[in-house]
Amino acid sequence: MLKLHEEAQQPPHYHRVPFELGAPNAARVWSALIGPKDTFQHDRDTAEMLRATYPDLRQLALTHRFLHDSLVYNTADAVTSFVDLGAGLPPNPSRSQRLVDRTTEESAGRYAAGGSIRVVTVDHDEVAALYNAALRSGTVALHADVRDTHTVLTTCDEHLGDEPRAYVMTALAELLTADDLGALVSDLVQGSPPGSLLATSHTDDTPETAALAAAWKDAVPGSEMFPRTSDRLAALLDASGVKESRTYKPQPMLPGKLRRGPVYATIATL
Ligand SMILES: C[S@@+](CC[C@H](N)C(=O)[O-])C[C@H]1O[C@@H](n2cnc3c(N)ncnc32)[C@H](O)[C@@H]1O
Repeated sequence: MLKLHEEAQQPPHYHRVPFELGAPNAARVWSALIGPKDTFQHDRDTAEMLRATYPDLRQLALTHRFLHDSLVYNTADAVTSFVDLGAGLPPNPSRSQRLVDRTTEESAGRYAAGGSIRVVTVDHDEVAALYNAALRSGTVALHADVRDTHTVLTTCDEHLGDEPRAYVMTALAELLTADDLGALVSDLVQGSPPGSLLATSHTDDTPETAALAAAWKDAVPGSEMFPRTSDRLAALLDASGVKESRTYKPQPMLPGKLRRGPVYATIATL
């Protein structure tokens, strides 16, 4: 089911990305690194250009995907409702055995202790929202900017009720400014049922990822990347009112002989 927020109600700051064939965009460039499914030549060329600056970019993207499964695993004891913020394009279903290609609902289906799993996906990219609506059956796909927390929370309340939920955001927080990320987290803290969790994977701030961020800004129109250290993210979460947060890093070698990229994960109690 696709939920489209009314344009008239959108404050100008919130942005939804329309389908545009002639330029790369964040959702499809990312998919080109992981997949490459549902991408165009521009997206694949941009992914290759970025890899010239940062050769380990594919490892980095796949580490985020590994952590997506791991974050669902680590929250599935506590919740059966999940909100996939900045969900991206759905992975290739023919490879769903690959851990990095699992959707939230596939991971939750394996790990949740009991109860029926409910999933809302949110992405401001038109193609991602349409494909998530079409291909991820049983989930609700919201086409909206995550910064539009009124729409996000209203949709979640409507479909997930007042049970605690886990917001999972992998490779999204670094695409938001500190102010926007802080405002998002603070609204989630105030507007979510008690016991809800925020599970985040984030690109670390290193000289190499700083160079990647500069290249990303030039190559992907309308998108910026802000790598942060885990201390910086923990301070931001703390200032936004989370009750507690815990940071962890995946092991150096991931399943499938995947080498870990400079990415860490945080789980916060809202
Ligand atoms: C780097 S991709 C990560 C996709 C997926 N979470 C993963 O780990 O593979 C970031 C996704 O977030 C979406 N996105 C970026 N900024 C957003 C915003 N402000 N609101 C909603 N979606 C956003 C992009 O369209 C893209 O699909």
